Amino acid sequence: MNPQNEILITGSRGQLGSELKRLLGDSATYVDREELDLTDAKAVTDFLRANNFKYIVNCAAYTAVDRAEEDKMACAAANIDAVKNLASLSEELGYRLLHISTDYVFNGDTCTPYTESDRPEPMSVYGSTKRKGETALIGLDPSSMIIRTGWLYSEFGHNFVKTILTKLREGAALRVVDDQYGTPTCAADLAAFIAGHVLRGHWNAGLYHYAAEGVASWYDFAVAIAAEAGIEGANISPVHTADYPTPAARPHFSVLDKSKIKATFGITLPYWRDSLRRCLRNIETNG
Ligand SMILES: NC(=O)c1ccc[n+]([C@@H]2O[C@H](COP(=O)([O-])OP(=O)(O)OC[C@H]3O[C@@H](n4cnc5c(N)ncnc54)[C@H](OP(=O)(O)O)[C@@H]3O)[C@@H](O)[C@H]2O)c1
Repeated sequence: MNPQNEILITGSRGQLGSELKRLLGDSATYVDREELDLTDAKAVTDFLRANNFKYIVNCAAYTAVDRAEEDKMACAAANIDAVKNLASLSEELGYRLLHISTDYVFNGDTCTPYTESDRPEPMSVYGSTKRKGETALIGLDPSSMIIRTGWLYSEFGHNFVKTILTKLREGAALRVVDDQYGTPTCAADLAAFIAGHVLRGHWNAGLYHYAAEGVASWYDFAVAIAAEAGIEGANISPVHTADYPTPAARPHFSVLDKSKIKATFGITLPYWRDSLRRCLRNIETNG
């Protein structure tokens, strides 16, 4: 840890945190649970008061969507209480806090992409705690930024792409839901946006949606992974959500409208399948 840096990345061993670390290298300070448990309010307060960061990018979260249904307290501690504490401290100490949230704040009861002004109505403990974290942050630190994203994958950490690849290479027959639609989003792309725009002084407080372009079901995503990885004879069957029950309910449609972030920052976004191809190449190259 180098506490002289202006940028603090939390959740640095997760997907997004790892992608930011790859881009920012020595120019940021990185903490994950081992170095700084964000649910330990005193430790976080002491750490932030003892340092002089300009930016905090909060990539830490309780992200196990199904486990959260049983593990409500731990999920709330990381996704609500820890965010409240970070927000109060950022406001008090003048840090710019960028927080990451999720498309799972929506209930999916639509077929048009969600804008930032659409009403959240989470269907799961995870979605509900992420929404409460957002509202707490907006109330406590109005100068903060929140970026909602969805269906994140990366060459780092655990995610759908790596799980599907492993199972297909083992020759498994897969059943994948074909009636939940979203946009697979590569954490490397989001990290590049954060590092190249937000942390370069282009700070715009408020709530934004970031995802790749396009729409897919989980089934489409799995089929694309097989095709882009060159796996022949992949055995993937579509199933309905009703035939594949999970502890947490998920939205049938959680595509995000990205007009605001594109207009505010003057960016274009990659098409999801192009990003998937790049990520798979990196997985091949880096092992
Ligand atoms: N993954 C997705 O599909 C997805 C979709 C939409 C939005 N998001 C949001 O995007 C952000 C980044 O997600 P991600 O996929 O990069 O997450 P991730 O891979 O699960 O990484 C989260 C990291 O936060 C750490 N963490 C959890 N609780 C902590 C605590 N109390 N103190 C310190 N560190 C803690 C985790 O450590 P442990 O491993 O030890 O718990 C992990 O290293 C999150 O806010 C998430 O809600 C993710």
